[in-house]
Amino acid sequence: MFFERPEAGRRAVLLNVSLGAGPAGNRAAMLTAARGELTQLVQSAAMQPVGCVEGAREKPHPRWFVGEGKLDEIAAALSAGDADLLIANHDLTPAQERNLEQRLECRVMTRAELILHIFADRARTREGQLQIELAQLNHARTRMARGWAHLDRQRGGVGLRGAGEKQIELDARMLRSRIRVVRERLERVHGQRQGSRRHRRRTGVPTVALVGYTNAGKSTLFNALTQPAGAGGAYVADQLFATLDPLMRRVQVEGAGEVVLADTVGFIRDLPPGFAEAFKATLEQVAEADLLLHVIDAAAEDAAALRGHVLGVLTEIGAADVPTIEVWNKVDLLPGDVADEALAPESAPGADGGAPQRVPVSATDGVGLDALRGAVGAALGVASEPLTVLLEPGAGKVRARLYALGAVRSEAVGQDGRLALAVRVDAAEARRLRSAGLVAAS
Ligand code: GTP
Repeated sequence: MFFERPEAGRRAVLLNVSLGAGPAGNRAAMLTAARGELTQLVQSAAMQPVGCVEGAREKPHPRWFVGEGKLDEIAAALSAGDADLLIANHDLTPAQERNLEQRLECRVMTRAELILHIFADRARTREGQLQIELAQLNHARTRMARGWAHLDRQRGGVGLRGAGEKQIELDARMLRSRIRVVRERLERVHGQRQGSRRHRRRTGVPTVALVGYTNAGKSTLFNALTQPAGAGGAYVADQLFATLDPLMRRVQVEGAGEVVLADTVGFIRDLPPGFAEAFKATLEQVAEADLLLHVIDAAAEDAAALRGHVLGVLTEIGAADVPTIEVWNKVDLLPGDVADEALAPESAPGADGGAPQRVPVSATDGVGLDALRGAVGAALGVASEPLTVLLEPGAGKVRARLYALGAVRSEAVGQDGRLALAVRVDAAEARRLRSAGLVAAS
């Protein structure tokens, strides 16, 4: 409707401006980080960044966001890059957006619109799709003036303004009713999801949620932990927000037994207004998880800042108290000595004061995954005790239970006809088996 969706492969010039005062050095570093992230976002949207215009301003120019000189620079970059799309790393007022479009004769997109565009492409579950639609509708409602400007242009401009005005009333009414419908549907889907969550709770399977800044490697880790053979699985791509909806899978984590592992949407700074709510709603189950794996891209230049951002969001959604393991991923990208120093347990901030345990891993190479499984088991209070259980052929129930627990490592038939099961179980189960006289003397 209001979103003219740029097609894949479209060439775009980026606009990245540092606003406000501050030491030049800091501002340069912030501009570089912001440019890197915007470039990644644009690539995630399958568009092609062909140029980037940067600058610094005390505050935005009211008319075009940037000054006259920058406008010429942008026009030159658009023509040099054969692009007809400008993507601003900023919020623009509807008037600024309109003025820029008129002056530069190209489509202008804000960072917020870009993120909405990516999210709309990626939502997989019904709830995710509805949430994105709601965010888009709300965004459209706040940008009605812009839709009006487009209409005027399409219909020949000022003379036909009345037509635009009438249309905008119709659109506003249509938007309101659509927002109502989407809200109702969301409530229904939400209710269903809570039902299945209750069911999981009743069955006592712990939930482990993967959280982290976008592109930290959550989906890769999710796959590595759930299917070592690498078949099928979560969608992993060198794109932001590859996982938009919580993806849950019941898996056996060796040493931890059966858990529900939940992959979640990547966190990102400066979400579009109104979108933060939808984003947080998809993270609802994070606060109820038994354990969080906070995945951090150890090779990212601003890893510490990104970690801080994620911690801030976790606090906002009431998940600050959930036990957490920090998974420092992508250690394969770090030079050896840096990796050792950065990841030494004692160097973890506040390690002495009960700060989260740090586990260095490489989800792509499989390095550190066993240690991580062990840490998950320990954090969930699962003391995994290796035992050999001897069962009479008729003891099918116990055997079935051990399999259901994911405790069985191997099974063999002994000479006496009994089954010998090598198992790993928690302390309570070990006690039960011992008191039933089923455990072989070691
Ligand atoms: P979002 O869905 O945006 O939240 O991303 P994510 O955190 O799920 O990241 P994803 O698993 O999609 O990985 C992002 C990129 O990092 C992909 O190109 C991965 O191949 C890469 N990656 C993940 N883990 C590692 C790792 O251990 N080492 C290296 N070198 N690359 C990795």
